[in-house]
Amino acid sequence: MLEDSSFAIHPGQKKQMQTPDYKEIGNVLKVVKTESGASVNTESGTLFIKFYRDDIVRFVLNPFGETTLCSSPALITDGEKTEVTVCEKNGQILLSSAKLQVYLEKSPLRITIADPDGRVLVKEGAKGMGFKESKEIICYKEMEPEDHFYGFGEKTGFLDKRGEKMTMWNSDVYAPHNPETDSLYQSIPYFMTLRNGFAHGIFFDNTFKTTFDFRSEETNYSFSAEGGQINYYVLAGPTPKDVLEQYTFLTGRMPIPPKWAIGYHQSRYSYETEQEVRELAKTFIEKGIPLDVIYLDIHYMDGYRVFTFDKERFPNPKQLIKDLKEQGIRIVPIVDPGVKEDPEYYIYQEGIRGDHFCKYIEGNIYFGDVWPGNSAFPDFTSSKVRKWWGEKHRFYSDLGIEGIWNDMNEPAVFNETKTMDVKVMHDNDGDPRTHRELHNIYGLMMGESTYSGMKKQLNGKRPFLLTRAGYSGIQRYAAVWTGDNRSFWEHLQMSIPMVMNLGLSGIPFAGADVGGFAHDSNGELLVRWTQVGAFIPFFRNHSALGFARQEPWSFGEKYEKAIKKYIELRYQWLPHLYSLFAEAHHTGTPVMRPLMMEYPKDENTYNLSDQFMVGDNVIIAPIMQPSVQHRVVYLPEGNWVDYWTEEVFEGGKHHLVKADLNKLPIFIKQGSILVHGSVKRSTAIKDEKLTLHLYYGKSTSSSFKLYEDDGSTFEYEQGNYLRKIFHVKCTKDEISLTISDEGSYKPEWKEIELIVHGAPENFALIINGQEKSLQKKENNWRTVIC
Ligand code: GLC
Repeated sequence: MLEDSSFAIHPGQKKQMQTPDYKEIGNVLKVVKTESGASVNTESGTLFIKFYRDDIVRFVLNPFGETTLCSSPALITDGEKTEVTVCEKNGQILLSSAKLQVYLEKSPLRITIADPDGRVLVKEGAKGMGFKESKEIICYKEMEPEDHFYGFGEKTGFLDKRGEKMTMWNSDVYAPHNPETDSLYQSIPYFMTLRNGFAHGIFFDNTFKTTFDFRSEETNYSFSAEGGQINYYVLAGPTPKDVLEQYTFLTGRMPIPPKWAIGYHQSRYSYETEQEVRELAKTFIEKGIPLDVIYLDIHYMDGYRVFTFDKERFPNPKQLIKDLKEQGIRIVPIVDPGVKEDPEYYIYQEGIRGDHFCKYIEGNIYFGDVWPGNSAFPDFTSSKVRKWWGEKHRFYSDLGIEGIWNDMNEPAVFNETKTMDVKVMHDNDGDPRTHRELHNIYGLMMGESTYSGMKKQLNGKRPFLLTRAGYSGIQRYAAVWTGDNRSFWEHLQMSIPMVMNLGLSGIPFAGADVGGFAHDSNGELLVRWTQVGAFIPFFRNHSALGFARQEPWSFGEKYEKAIKKYIELRYQWLPHLYSLFAEAHHTGTPVMRPLMMEYPKDENTYNLSDQFMVGDNVIIAPIMQPSVQHRVVYLPEGNWVDYWTEEVFEGGKHHLVKADLNKLPIFIKQGSILVHGSVKRSTAIKDEKLTLHLYYGKSTSSSFKLYEDDGSTFEYEQGNYLRKIFHVKCTKDEISLTISDEGSYKPEWKEIELIVHGAPENFALIINGQEKSLQKKENNWRTVIC
């Protein structure tokens, strides 16, 4: 308690300066060329340099023992065979691939990484790599005044992390998240540097507690870990999208989610009875507010025992799930890792008999207090345990459930340290490691177990998984929400850079609790938050026990109307959003993007934290303050069209725009294409027709890949999808549109109507070389194109 008062800054509290026992790696003794790199003997052990591709190079060194090329479970590849030459040049060793050059200065060892034109990406200067007696390992790199830093997974604060110091240690933080809150639920030890318009990345694959320090020194940044090997990958870029492609080549990409998972989700801690859930669904249907998912938080269970339903509150879950599915609404239950210590409970019994729980080296099980009381925790580092837990999900899939919500999987424990004892020894498939080393991957491995189990049981249907905790690679299994935020305007503001940085960290399917989880929300906040949520990849309204209810109608008609409008808008935009999810699946480029991703040479975008892009041609500039109806919007080069009024704004400038409560400022770049479907009750209703909005712009060109598949199976992996590629080119008086198709999928929609916005009178429309006539209606021109 005293730490919360001024006592915290009592003069006697000043920390003793620690004696620095930092040691450098030392000199290079010998270099031997290997298949895709080199093995370098140094005074402090062997450094392996291995190219994974021309544009990805890995550095591994263990100053405390033998260096190994083992990887964490984040990695999905051992790399491709890469042509590398090794030679000596001006007293330095040079390793080159087609896209990267690695220079090693020999005494002491210093690494410089450049592109083939000599542009330096990563450089060690006065300090290089080193270690401490405590087994801490540290890497210093030079920091240029022009450097901007992004990624780091889930962090509070602004978009650009220059000047920050961040720790990766999966943590359950209910206390209000603020700019000082450091470790949150996810640990993504990866970042992207943007320097003079060019990007490169570093992935520090170390599962111990890691620290990224961009604050302590003026000309160096560092990344360090409490233990383990120096083990990092340099990703060549040169564009931010290239870096994401490279990072997700290593750690994997999100599968295309089932369509229902990108609709609107309604949650509450908790909808406590079957009756309450049915009434909730009924209200949505009666009010005509679209809905795809209702969540069951911990109250659905029998005494918070996972894989059970409370028989009194939920007498017939199967019927409930069936009835709701008929209305296009799915149920997603919460599943936490803690298993109640109860000898009469079948999961606990199986866990004990099968030796599935986390234990100390001495053999005693670790117990911790969570919702069900004293609980044991499955050891997800063991593949046998993951399989067991995954199979247990048949309990849910047999009831018709297709989505699972994993929470408290840092793992969270109600104690001083907030987690499991770091001395616990994980099985790790026969290579035992302490919890101190594997803490950060507990949630990732639970995700693997749950996703794989569900996938198997759903017989070809796509499962949906939502998780709170994760490590690099979590995108392969789960969507991520940003945990226990509050109904504060500041938290709405904070969610934008947080979700953008998650996207820049390979996690495109992310979002914050709309309306705020804890604290009482209010009508205005919920409207503004829903406006943002409608364009954020994961769109769920969730609120906590004991605080104001937060369903769309909770604050009266005026607000309900505005909220409904934006949930409907989400459904209208689904074909566009789904196409962007497919792009994220194929390339790693996120759905929700900071402007710097599309305009890396424009300095105005480098720390733009209150605007974002959806794809490459739409800017969302939400209002995120109470009683405010104006804001400044930055629009980069080009001309931009107000989505609602069609007013044209010149880019490369800041504009003051007005947005009353019903308006979310949306800007579409001239020359681009937007695809809309129709407003619908749920994604279960298919579009019969799509509308292609083309925003004319003199001397512009762009392209859009409309993606479609069955929305529910993995057949897209076998080519059963449709990709319609639209290229548009506008001149003074002509719009030429070329359309080509890839893939074999036959969509449900039978027609695409083209609406041209803002074109000059008497322009000609040429589609695939043929002139096509249009009809003028109000200010736009229309025609059916497919
Ligand atoms: C945690 C979760 C929250 C959930 C609650 C009860 O606080 O972050 O979303 O509602 O636990 O399960």
